[in-house]
Formats: sequence, C-alpha cells, structure tokens
Amino acid sequence: LQNPDLLKEEILKLKEERNAIILAHNYQIAEVQDIADFVGDSLELSRAAASLESDIIVFCGVDFMAETAAILSPEKKVLLPAADACCPMAEMITVGELQVLKSRFPQASVVCYVNTSAEVKAESDICCTSSNAVNVVNSLDAEQIIFVPDRNLARYVARFTSKEILPWEGFCFVHDRITFEDVIQVRNLHPTAEVLVHPECKPEVIDLADEVLSTSGMIKHVCSSNSKEFIIGTEVGILHQMKKKCPGKSCYSLSAEAICTNMKKTDLHKVYSALETLRPVVAVSTDIAEKARKAIEKMLAV
Ligand code: 13P
Ligand code: SF4
Repeated sequence: LQNPDLLKEEILKLKEERNAIILAHNYQIAEVQDIADFVGDSLELSRAAASLESDIIVFCGVDFMAETAAILSPEKKVLLPAADACCPMAEMITVGELQVLKSRFPQASVVCYVNTSAEVKAESDICCTSSNAVNVVNSLDAEQIIFVPDRNLARYVARFTSKEILPWEGFCFVHDRITFEDVIQVRNLHPTAEVLVHPECKPEVIDLADEVLSTSGMIKHVCSSNSKEFIIGTEVGILHQMKKKCPGKSCYSLSAEAICTNMKKTDLHKVYSALETLRPVVAVSTDIAEKARKAIEKMLAV
C-alpha cells in the first residue's frame, strides 16, 4: 500500500468493517488529522471517547490519551497505532512520588493534569486538562492543592485562585523551551499579530501573551477573533487545523522547534496496521481503571 490514496481508501474501508472511530490530537501529522473522525484537544478527545458509539477506538495521540479513552470506555477496544508514543512529562511523576507528597500534605486535594499515567490518576482526587484547570481547582473545597506534574500549568492556575498551589516540578520539553526572546523576535516580525500560547509555556512567555489557551481553544479563538494574524505558541501540528478551519487568517509558529516527536510517531501505515491486526491494544487493569475513572468523571462534571 505505497499509494497514499489507496492507503486512505483501505483505512476507511477497514474502519467501517471494524465499526471503529479514529480520534486524533491537534498535534498529529496532517494526513492523520485528515483521516480522523474527530480531531481535538485532550478534553474534547476524552469526551468523544466517552460518547461516540463504536466497538473500536483508534487513538492517534500519545499513551496517556489512549489510556484515558480505555478508562472511560471499558467496553471498547482502544488501539494506539504507535505503541511507543509516550508523553515525557507524564513520566515525570510516579505513583510512589505522589504518595509521598500526599503523606506530607494530608489536608491537600490532588489535581492531576490529564498528562499522567492511569496509576497517578487513580491516586488523585480529580483530573484536569489545559482548558479546564482553573475551573477544576476552583471547584474544590480544599484550600491547599497538590498539582502534578506540570509546573508551568500549576503556576498559571495559581494566578486565578486564592488556594495554595503546591506544584510538582515536571514540564513539557516542547513548550518549556520556548523563550521570552522567541516571543520578542517573532512579534517584531509580525507586530500586529495576536500572541496565543499554551499554559504549558514558561511564566515569562505567558506574561507576553494576549491569550493563554488549550490547543482547541486556540483554533476557536483564531476563527472567531477580528484579528487577521496570530503567533501560535504550541506544537506546530496545530497549524494544519487552523489552515483548514480558519481560512483567511495567517498563523505563524512561535518556534519552529516546537515539535513533539512522540505525537509524530503515528502515520497512515500504522493506522492501517492497527485496524488490520487490532493491535497494539491499550488496556488498564480494572482496579486502577475504576479509581482513575472517578478522577476523570469528576473533571468531566465540572
Ligand atoms: P491540549 O489539551 O491543550 O490539547 O494539550 C495537550 C498536550 O499534550 C499539550 O502539550
Ligand atoms: Fe507531552 Fe509535551 Fe508532547 Fe504534549 S507536547 S504530549 S505535554 S511531550
């Protein structure tokens, strides 16, 4: 199947036969985004996994996202076409480390970013994503919040709450390496452009932004804003959705180096192979899934 059009046709045929849906994150390569039934941010993909009817979910993203889908839809088979697509930030906190933190701060509630393992979610009170983190934290009764694993998102949330936030020092290498100087430089090239950044960026980058948004939040903003030009401070894959959904707008990447190598591991050949072989399957043990589901469902209810 070397012919890309034939490959796409075969994927669509197999998808029907298997009663499968293809979900893709906004950072996936363009061809994968184009074949997906639904493209979105972490929160939208969680909701889609929970609500769409199918026997199989082909999850074009990274492992924690596929795990979340498996936790929310235990009756569906969840396939992760690129078996080794992980999120290095999610791996920056282990369940053992979280247990130590909890014993040190027994009064605190635990908020975990959705970019965590199922085990860490199972040990948390509630999950959050980049689009609902502030609301999630403010929905809790506790005055002290352990926030894992992203230090930048934790400190961003701290700007909008009176609660004491205790951040874990994890970070996303894609966003954390975008610098203050990058913003100044690209803004000098496009002085009338609005600057949109992801909350995983450093505080000094966030300080220079016009809007701080999740990936889908950025796409919606570009489409609805009166501005014509935007500087986009997140992974470059998102520009494809902006081109498709917001014609007439010009979007420039804040950093050409903002590439998540794990998000780029999925291609059409792997999607086809996953549908054909029904592998690799992502499964979460029942006891962990039950506890993690509570944290995710609590988030979906906020
Ligand atoms: P979004 O939920 O904003 O899509 O972010 C996911 C992610 O991994 C950001 O790096
Ligand atoms: Fe993880 Fe960063 Fe990649 Fe998002 S962009 S999946 S946080 S490594």
